[in-house]
Amino acid sequence: MKHFLNTQDWSRDELDALLAQAAEFKRRPLGDQLKGRSIALVFFNPSMRTRTSFELGAFQLGGHAIVLQPGKDAWPIEFDVGTVMDGEAEEHIAEVARVLGRYVDLIGVRAFPKFRDWAEDREDKVLRAFARYSPVPVINMETITHPCQELAHVLALQERFGTADLRGRKYVLTWTYHPKPLNTAVANSALTIATRMGMDVTLLCPTPEYVLDERYMDWAAQNVAESGGSLTVSHDIEGAYRDADVVYAKSWGALPYFGRWEEEKPLRDRFRHFIVDEAKMALTRDGVFSHCLPLRRNVKATDAVMDSPNCIAIEEAENRLHVQKAIMAALVRQ
Ligand code: CP
Repeated sequence: MKHFLNTQDWSRDELDALLAQAAEFKRRPLGDQLKGRSIALVFFNPSMRTRTSFELGAFQLGGHAIVLQPGKDAWPIEFDVGTVMDGEAEEHIAEVARVLGRYVDLIGVRAFPKFRDWAEDREDKVLRAFARYSPVPVINMETITHPCQELAHVLALQERFGTADLRGRKYVLTWTYHPKPLNTAVANSALTIATRMGMDVTLLCPTPEYVLDERYMDWAAQNVAESGGSLTVSHDIEGAYRDADVVYAKSWGALPYFGRWEEEKPLRDRFRHFIVDEAKMALTRDGVFSHCLPLRRNVKATDAVMDSPNCIAIEEAENRLHVQKAIMAALVRQ
């Protein structure tokens, strides 16, 4: 049984098939691929796009979605094995995943890092535990990667460039300032999928401390070896933006400071100028800009960049609906 935990677990042919099906759903939104089927959407963190697009996507294919928020409208869950459950948790994932699997055909999970200890968070314990115990396929709705966002992003680029072949495009994944340390999930994902698609990828970040976890740097290197693109780490804003075809922005906390964010803040505060603005975009080759959203305007990107015809963030957000329908349909079909 196949889950959708990371795009790296799926072959290029399988990903291309999902993207083609998503494009088809965009042309013809309604279907019966999920008729009589259901999905539990388990949210440990807030969402606007993910929740809306999964619920609607299931409905548009004849299925039904149930949203659960453990600790709010569902019991708090224990994930450690062999623990004496005398804390907050009322039930164990071993029961939760197996019981849900008796009711529904798919389980989606959103579980962000706890932001205390990266060595622990990088194990993706919540998602892995659902996948371990669930008798039905599990979909990553964002944990330490965001694979649904990856496919929505790629589909938006394919649409904008008018071709499924993105090889040879200069792609800049730029760190941006944000007042809080944020999840590295979308950055890990952007790096993974951009290299998978054979683009010439630059990871632009303020200092070496903002380079991403070695797992994702390794995936990117492996993808480059297989897809023929390239991967460069840069701290030079002008050089990175020059002649770029794509600028993708995201903020994230520096991993060496994980759990000691008060120590990172003075460092991060020095790099407010990483904001995506018109002057930087003018260095590109009439490049497109995107972001996964939500985005703080005039902190991560200026109003002018967000309102520019080169901004495809809204298309990317719409595409979440289409790609997730393709993912759900593929997983129930297997
Ligand atoms: N991009 C994204 O996942 O948005 P939400 O957090 O609103 O779901």
